[in-house]
Amino acid sequence: MTERDNRNDRDNRSARNGQDDELERIETALLLEGIYQRYGYDFRNYAHPSIYRRIRHRLKLEGLPDISSLLGSVLRDPDAFRRLLSDLVIPVTELFRDPEMFLAFRRDVAPVLRRLPFVRIWHAGCSTGEEVYSLAVLLHEEGLLDKTRIYATDINEDALQRARDGMIPIDRMKQYTRNYQAAGGKRDFSAYYASNHGIVMLKPFLREKIVFARHNLVTDSSFNEFHVVFCRNVMIYFNPQLTNQVHGLFYESLAPGGFLVLGGKESLAFTPMAERYETWNDTHRIYRKQL
Ligand SMILES: C[S@@+](CC[C@H](N)C(=O)[O-])C[C@H]1O[C@@H](n2cnc3c(N)ncnc32)[C@H](O)[C@@H]1O
Repeated sequence: MTERDNRNDRDNRSARNGQDDELERIETALLLEGIYQRYGYDFRNYAHPSIYRRIRHRLKLEGLPDISSLLGSVLRDPDAFRRLLSDLVIPVTELFRDPEMFLAFRRDVAPVLRRLPFVRIWHAGCSTGEEVYSLAVLLHEEGLLDKTRIYATDINEDALQRARDGMIPIDRMKQYTRNYQAAGGKRDFSAYYASNHGIVMLKPFLREKIVFARHNLVTDSSFNEFHVVFCRNVMIYFNPQLTNQVHGLFYESLAPGGFLVLGGKESLAFTPMAERYETWNDTHRIYRKQL
């Protein structure tokens, strides 16, 4: 093969790849539109690289050749849709995930909450509830739980049901105990759970102040005024337009002086809301709505 043949071959391959990418983009847009029209779940403004990965994973599992075939199957078969849905929502979470953030919350936010007569907290995208129970433990230790109501919401009903059950696999408890201690935990962590036959049940008193409910950040509106909104590791899956929309929802839902807590890889910087908050703890992404 001559140098020119090699070059032509490379050019043809890259044109084919470009065309495949374009087809994948169009098919994905059609799939997400179909899901929205048929089931009301709106993933159209989720970040595409992550969505592509999830869809490709589902294609492999279902043994389907392309996204168009998946669209046909999802439109006609609600079970196929539920299987895809479980790929599109990513439930990864843990107790006292990012323990230093909880430590910072304990040190920098709890004293402000202590001055309020009651506290309303919204955990948006709470998944299976580990983050919410972690907060309940922290508030209990800070003497704040009794006057607090936590609204914990997610798009995923299966995850919410697991959250309500308050069960944790026992093999994770070593890691969680370390997280609890690194988060400034003040007791023996085993005071907060009972274990039986390999299953850990969180103590029921932690649940008493939590309401678990379905809420879709993309299509549902604000439902109360809160002193704190947690939304961690959810908007990383959204495109900038959707992220800005959801920041508008949180701004509307926060009382003046309320706190917004984001995930470690998220930030208010470069969003239209940046000017309307004070950065309370930059490292741990804690912001305070201007008074
Ligand atoms: C990676 S988990 C984060 C869980 C927890 N906040 C944490 O940081 O450990 C992301 C959660 O966001 C939820 N989610 C994704 N899109 C959502 C939406 N439009 N409305 C509400 N929750 C959503 C998913 O169902 C999933 O439970």
